[in-house]
Amino acid sequence: MSAETGEFSAPLLGWDPATGEEVRWHPAGPGQDVLQNGHVEIWGSSGMGKTQFVMILLAQLSRRGGSRYGIADFKNDYSGDTGFPAYAGAEFLDLWSTGASYNPLALDDDGDRAVDTAVIELRDTVEEATSAFGRMGRRQKAKLEEALREAYAAGRREGRWPTLRTLDDQLDADLAGVMGDLTRHELFRSGEPLGNVIDHNVVFGLSKIPGNGQTTVLAAGFILSALLLKIQDMPPVPNTIRYVAVVDEAHRVASFQAIRTMIREGRSKGLAVVLATQQPLDLPDIVAANAQTKICFGLPDATVATMAARKLEPENPRLSEQIRTLGVGEAFVSLRGGAPRLLRMAQAYRDSRTLDLPDLVR
Ligand SMILES: Nc1ncnc2c1ncn2[C@@H]1O[C@H](COP(=O)(O)OP(=O)(O)O)[C@@H](O)[C@H]1O
Ligand SMILES: [Mg+2]
Repeated sequence: MSAETGEFSAPLLGWDPATGEEVRWHPAGPGQDVLQNGHVEIWGSSGMGKTQFVMILLAQLSRRGGSRYGIADFKNDYSGDTGFPAYAGAEFLDLWSTGASYNPLALDDDGDRAVDTAVIELRDTVEEATSAFGRMGRRQKAKLEEALREAYAAGRREGRWPTLRTLDDQLDADLAGVMGDLTRHELFRSGEPLGNVIDHNVVFGLSKIPGNGQTTVLAAGFILSALLLKIQDMPPVPNTIRYVAVVDEAHRVASFQAIRTMIREGRSKGLAVVLATQQPLDLPDIVAANAQTKICFGLPDATVATMAARKLEPENPRLSEQIRTLGVGEAFVSLRGGAPRLLRMAQAYRDSRTLDLPDLVR
């Protein structure tokens, strides 16, 4: 079955612990009822089961429903060390050690308008990514825009797309201080447009990028904006999940406009955004307002559990305590604001064989 046929096969979320009943997820396809989009917000403390659940969800969606996915992996959770790429048919790209042969500056179209759009998009992405590390001034922004234009002009003179290296040549010391690690080390090299990753299952390994985190977030920003531009160019598709964009440790990309736009515009394009964090307050309100599937794994901290309970079912006085004492792999699942339901969630290391998926082997 492929995404092209539009057939969606509902994956298993987990089991009702009392009855053993299977609970499937219907954001699209024949069984779609409550949900109108596939955006998912996942909360839970470290070790409670977020990643193992995301793994088995992606394996089901890609192997059965023809969805493709991309993961921004900040912690090396989805690398070959965990067995995930073989398990779920993905390519793992270690951005620091080998770089990715996808070029964020290459475009599908070399018209002036397309180049202008890319320049502005890339400039704003750099600004957003660096905002947590000290704001870019107006002059810096203008210089960056100029450097990007120069890089495209240089590429055009040579009859090729500029690369991060081309851009690096245009950066003065000041701008190199902001993004020099990204451009000098060629985390993305020459190759097809970065947005073309949408045709494959790809894990972007960001965990080895050294430094204070600024270059890591920049790389994530380049990936997200390239995906967004690509998705915005695609024709709408009804009632299927064509692509799943996953960010584990999503607080690191909370500031990106690209995330908000994906969440807002994704549904008609068959895009589902899956964001996992340790805390319900890590993500902007627009995520909470639009992610119709909310999955809450255990949150042992009483204050955090109370915040989560307030978001899921404010009128339930016992929910906070129940969230605080959830076991590993258990979660409350709420669909489109409905009452949260306790489930024993599917976990890749444990349940793959039951679901006729390959074993997750390290
Ligand atoms: N291969 C495995 N065998 C046994 N238990 C595992 C295996 N892999 C993961 N687990 C368990 O699954 C639980 C959930 O892990 P994980 O999904 O990575 O948590 P999170 O992403 O919420 O931090 C952990 O408690 C871990 O001990
Ligand atoms: Mg995890």
